Amino acid sequence: MIIKKSEFTISSPSLAKCPDDTKAEYAFIGRSNVGKSSLINMLCNHKGLAKTSAKPGKTLLINHFIINNEWYLVDLPGYGYAKNSKTVRNKLEQMIAQYILQRKQLVNVFVLIDIRHEQQKIDREFVDWLGESNVPFSIIFTKADKLSPAKAKSNALLWMKKLQDRWEVLPPYFITSSEDKTGRDEVLDYIDQINATLE
Ligand code: GTP
Ligand code: MG
Repeated sequence: MIIKKSEFTISSPSLAKCPDDTKAEYAFIGRSNVGKSSLINMLCNHKGLAKTSAKPGKTLLINHFIINNEWYLVDLPGYGYAKNSKTVRNKLEQMIAQYILQRKQLVNVFVLIDIRHEQQKIDREFVDWLGESNVPFSIIFTKADKLSPAKAKSNALLWMKKLQDRWEVLPPYFITSSEDKTGRDEVLDYIDQINATLE
């Protein structure tokens, strides 16, 4: 798929304030600092489209970006950032849960996982919650440039394999790097395939 145009639409503090539009939405979620905003910029070939930061907790609102005037990429705040107060964390979790469970236009959630680390409890709980809630999702491993290709692949496979203790059917997964654009075509083709089924 070719992205001809990517534009920021709006930042929303709640589901109720999200755009009044019926176009398909693809949301990006994961721990704070995992690389959600960077991945959106990489997919769109558009530096600075989504705000990134070396400091965790940058994204605190639901951010919509319209692509080719046809569908949206949605940048969500990270979950589980310990330095946020409990009140802020609860508020963010509620906002994220409401968006994910109730947004009718949401066709797929991409859960981002830092490829360097073993499966963390917070990520696993989030993935289990999506599965239990019947939300369609896929896994995107980020920061693959920080490992050798072989190590990246074995880490991703091991992470996916661990899901088998509970899940029979595993979600699709992608290995990516926003630094060197690994996985860009694969993720965009996947979105394209889903979009084609919606037409
Ligand atoms: P929050 O909005 O705070 O939840 O973070 P985020 O998940 O949107 O992460 P963001 O894209 O802001 O990136 C966090 C940090 O990781 C930044 O310093 C990025 O430059 C770096 N980063 C993101 N993706 C990659 C990647 O693929 N490779 C490398 N080496 N660094 C990355
Ligand atoms: Mg962000």
